[in-house]
Amino acid sequence: MIRAAVRTPYIRACLNQTRTPLARKFIMSNATRSFVSSVEIPKLSDSSLFRNGAFINDEWITSDKTFSVVDPATGNEIGKLPEMGAQDTKKAIEAASDAFKTWSQTTGKQRHDLLKKWYDLTMESQSDLATILTWENGKAYAEAKGEIAYGASYFEWFAEEAVRSYGNVIPSHMPNQRFLTIKQPVGVVGIITPWNFPNAMITRKVGAALAAGCTVVIKPGAETPYSALALCELAQRAGIPKGVINVVTTDKSVAEVGTELCTNPIVKKISFTGSTPVGKLLMSQSSGTMKKVSMELGGNAPFIVFDDADVDAAVEGALACKFRGSGQTCVCANRIYVQKGIYPLFASRLAEKVSKFNVGHGFNPDTTHGPLINDKAIEKVKRHLDDAVSKGGELLVGGKHLGGNFFEPAVITGMTSEMAIAGEETFGPIAGIFEFQTEEEVLALANNTEFGLASYFYSRDIGRIWRMAEKLETGMVGANSPILSSCYTPFGGIKESGMGREGSMYGLDDYMNIKYINMGGL
Ligand code: SIN
Repeated sequence: MIRAAVRTPYIRACLNQTRTPLARKFIMSNATRSFVSSVEIPKLSDSSLFRNGAFINDEWITSDKTFSVVDPATGNEIGKLPEMGAQDTKKAIEAASDAFKTWSQTTGKQRHDLLKKWYDLTMESQSDLATILTWENGKAYAEAKGEIAYGASYFEWFAEEAVRSYGNVIPSHMPNQRFLTIKQPVGVVGIITPWNFPNAMITRKVGAALAAGCTVVIKPGAETPYSALALCELAQRAGIPKGVINVVTTDKSVAEVGTELCTNPIVKKISFTGSTPVGKLLMSQSSGTMKKVSMELGGNAPFIVFDDADVDAAVEGALACKFRGSGQTCVCANRIYVQKGIYPLFASRLAEKVSKFNVGHGFNPDTTHGPLINDKAIEKVKRHLDDAVSKGGELLVGGKHLGGNFFEPAVITGMTSEMAIAGEETFGPIAGIFEFQTEEEVLALANNTEFGLASYFYSRDIGRIWRMAEKLETGMVGANSPILSSCYTPFGGIKESGMGREGSMYGLDDYMNIKYINMGGL
């Protein structure tokens, strides 16, 4: 059995910060503190990217009623932002509605130029934006920089799509009539985004919305609003007109803000990334005014390794797929199925690699994996780990709660369908490995879930590659490929993982209505 080397010396949280402590429950034992050395939060080279206000109608709004945003690595307060509710949301919607009158009349080329400028400014500020992102989300700084580039790519992609929203001329069956379609922006869009990708989940929605000619009201994750506000600062500098982008900040009143966005008749579309239960609630609230919806919801991705796979490639793939963002992505491998013949080899190689991870503060250059987002996330991974071990799973490496929001990435073998990980998205750094014997068996296991976002498999048999790719019931399939996301390709799920596609040649359509025009009497 492989045991993790003690990971704790690698923790480098910044405990020297003199900031208002602990807005949320954050317990780091003295034992953990004692081996933690100080990490400085890097200074922003452009401090005006850190905005302490919500953004409505081109104005930065402050308030006496605030909520705290905290560094998940230390629990120290980063800043305070307005705690907004339904009235503020209404104002933001009205601003977006006014702006829509002119923004929807701009040409694709004008929108292209502004989005391209926003892209350039975002990339010029990549380091500062990554600093803000690591600070509020916790992910390792190098990964945060990657997210900024990934996020910005949606501005560039949709800038280029803005000039290509073609309609059609439909061959007529009537001698004196002609038929055509044009595409028009849906209107004001309500955008609700999570904390796990504080930048990219906003850019891939807002890039598409703006390119289509829509205006937006964004409700970012309460844990990570500063990344959204920094993007607004850059949008303002790029010259994106007043009211086109609005950000409402809230923590406690999130339900009130969500309800206003979903029920206000001015809002014509809701685009949400988050959990399936919340997605269902937002959809039902949106039904009263028959809004268009895009839902990018939970996953429970199978990651399948066949005996004929390149085992090293599969191990590297599992590391990238399972542990990206410390396992806090909706496309992360959740159930790793390995065929009997290579099971022990795969498991021991994976465990060995995982034992080399360095858990620590995202600003420590040695850190490969930062903290989880909060104590709820820690509770969930602990519950999943305890459940698996209590039902006979063997912990090969990691699995220790290191205090605060730090958790050692873990590998467990001997997983069975009775364990919580088989049915529930862990959203954390636990790789649970299940053994299987046949292709039919694993396909049935993989599809035995209400979720259908992403799936992955490793095989070198071309026939099997086609069969699996076609039969896996998910919106996205990685065949010998562990990372699916890019601005060029359609991101989205089926079943209870949602509907709509983000990015790609399809992404703009989710923000447009097709209008059919019948020209008669010719
Ligand atoms: C998500 O986890 O919600 C998105 C992941 C991605 O864009 O790759």
